[in-house]
Amino acid sequence: MNLNDKVNDYDKFAKKRHYEVTNGMKKSLRFVEKPMMISMLPNLEGKRILMLGCGTAEESEILGKYNPKKITGIDISEKSIAIAKASYPTCDFYVGDMLDLPFKENEFDFIFSSLAISHVEDKDRVFKELYRILDNNGELLFSVGHPIRFATEKINHNDTSYHVIGFESGSNGKHVLGNYMSHSKQVNYFKDNEVLEEFIAPPSYFFETLMNNNFIVENFKESRCIDECKEIDEAYYERFKELPQFMGFLAKKQKTN
Ligand SMILES: C[S@@+](CC[C@H](N)C(=O)[O-])C[C@H]1O[C@@H](n2cnc3c(N)ncnc32)[C@H](O)[C@@H]1O
Repeated sequence: MNLNDKVNDYDKFAKKRHYEVTNGMKKSLRFVEKPMMISMLPNLEGKRILMLGCGTAEESEILGKYNPKKITGIDISEKSIAIAKASYPTCDFYVGDMLDLPFKENEFDFIFSSLAISHVEDKDRVFKELYRILDNNGELLFSVGHPIRFATEKINHNDTSYHVIGFESGSNGKHVLGNYMSHSKQVNYFKDNEVLEEFIAPPSYFFETLMNNNFIVENFKESRCIDECKEIDEAYYERFKELPQFMGFLAKKQKTN
C-alpha cells in the first residue's frame, strides 16, 4: 500500500480543516478532545516534542506555550503539511507514515498524537516505532475515538435514527448491537461527503498493546465536554458531557535493560 492510499480525505479537506480549527468551529476539538489532552500534559519545559499525525498543526500553538526545546510534526497528508509549514515556521515538518518514521533512536522526549493512531490498523507496530524514537523515560500522550461512540450500530425507527450498543432482549441475547470489544474498521461519513476510516478498539486493547511494548500507562481519561460549550450548543454539551467521545492515554517508555 503506498502513502496516498492511506491519506483518507485529509488532503482534500486540509484547507477547510485548518480554517475551521483556527476559528474554533470544530466543537469536538475545542470543547472535548483538546481540553482532555491539555489536562493530561506532563512538564514540557526543554523537551524535544514530536506531533504525530499533526495534520495542519494548530496543536503546535498549544504545545509551544510550555517552553519546549523544539517541536517537530509529521503527517501522511502532504497538503496538511504544506499548510502547517506555511502557518508555523518555527516548527520542523515532515511528510511520512507513522509505521515507518524517518527519525533516529531516542530522538524525542515527548510524543503528542491527537486522533491519528486510530487511523492505523497495526497499533503494535506503531507503538514499537514510538518506543524506538523516544528517549529513555520519554512519554507518549495520545487520543483515539471512544468505542462507546464509534462501535455503535445505527438503527432507524419511526423516522429517527439511534446509535445503539447493547442487545435485543427476548432474542436469547443472540442479537447484539454494536461491537465494543472488537478491534474493527469503522467508516465514518461527515459533512460535505468527507469519509474517514478508523480502527476502533476498547481501552483494554490499548492498555495491553502498550504494555506488550514496554510502556507503563501513567494516566487514562475518557473525554467530557467542558462547560464553556453549554452557551454555544446545549444539545452537544448535554450529549458529550455524559457520553465519552474520545479517550486519552499517557504512557512512559520503560527502559528494558
Ligand atoms: C483527525 S486528524 C488529527 C490532526 C491533528 N492531530 C488534530 O488533532 O487536529 C488525523 C491525522 O492523522 C493523519 N494520519 C493518518 N494516518 C497516518 C499515518 N499512517 N501516518 C501519519 N499520519 C497519519 C491524517 O493525515 C490526519 O492529519
